Amino acid sequence: MAFFTHQICRSLSSSAVRNVAIKHVTIIGSGQMGAGIAQVAASTGHSVTLVDTNDDVLKKAIKGIEGNLKRVVKKKFSDKPEAGEEFIQKALQNVSTSTDAASVVQGSDLVVEAIVENMKIKQDLFGGLDKLAPAHTIFASNTSSLSITDIASSTNRLDRFAGLHFFNPVPVMKLVEVIGTSATSQETLDSLLNFSKILGKTPVSCKDTPGFIVNRLLLPYLIEAVRMYERGHGSKEDIDIAMKLGCGYPMGPLELSDYVGLDTMKFIMDHWSAANPEDPSFAQSELLNKLVAEGKLGKKTGEGFYNGYQPKIILVQICA
Ligand SMILES: NC(=O)c1ccc[n+]([C@@H]2O[C@H](COP(=O)([O-])OP(=O)(O)OC[C@H]3O[C@@H](n4cnc5c(N)ncnc54)[C@H](O)[C@@H]3O)[C@@H](O)[C@H]2O)c1
Repeated sequence: MAFFTHQICRSLSSSAVRNVAIKHVTIIGSGQMGAGIAQVAASTGHSVTLVDTNDDVLKKAIKGIEGNLKRVVKKKFSDKPEAGEEFIQKALQNVSTSTDAASVVQGSDLVVEAIVENMKIKQDLFGGLDKLAPAHTIFASNTSSLSITDIASSTNRLDRFAGLHFFNPVPVMKLVEVIGTSATSQETLDSLLNFSKILGKTPVSCKDTPGFIVNRLLLPYLIEAVRMYERGHGSKEDIDIAMKLGCGYPMGPLELSDYVGLDTMKFIMDHWSAANPEDPSFAQSELLNKLVAEGKLGKKTGEGFYNGYQPKIILVQICA
């Protein structure tokens, strides 16, 4: 029955809702990811409305975008300062802000959600916006670990719902994972693939499975390195050196785990292991649990597998 409903949705979508070029984008959540997505969308000529819960957060996000644009211009327009200033002004003029998603979504071709990683909050947001957004509007979530199918289930636009997973920091990282559920229409996927290319990114298509492509390969690799260390297969230094020199990776897995954040790793692995208890690649590591319980979360707290880091907020989190 569900399959049949999806088929009807799909055929309705291809006949009734035509694919339109994405010109206006509403981005909900102006944190690390939302602000980065707003910056690249505005820099590539899109009209962007950035939404968050209060004006102070939005002001901070715009200030951050301006600072980043200045850094881009310093590099790209070093010999043409006037063209650089014009580039900054044009990009900033393309961004407006709002604390009321409901009032801005009506003019949007695409809504990208980059709010807190919580299923219920994401579902409530999309469920409300679904009643207000025009029929052609595509909804996309930037979630790292939640199921796109489950988030989309709060709406009646399953054919126009997908994942659009950017990497941090968005202006620098080239990859975008475009995630289709079994109900996402080909038109929607094509629009998002095309949009990603216009942003200057390289998109890849993925299925809606835990971790999509990058995190599904990366997280089990990192956790297996933790388990090897736990079992005494090698010292942490030797495990890291082995993967750097043996595979040409820029960082070893334990070093990289400290960068990603051990709490972030645990959060994602716990979620996947609860949803897939039979899958051994998501099995718990006692050592990881212990470090997190002790507040040793990696670089951001000064200590994880290694210590002596300067505790600070990490701007460049690898993927989660
Ligand atoms: N940080 C990363 O490295 C990274 C990478 C890829 C994907 N993601 C995903 O992107 C999303 C956002 O992550 P982030 O690191 O930017 O988080 P963040 O905490 O930096 O920002 C989230 C923002 O959303 C706002 N917000 C929360 N609820 C809201 C609501 N209902 N309406 C409007 N705004 C709301 C918060 O005020 C905050 O400014 C998450 O789903 C995360 O899994 C994060």
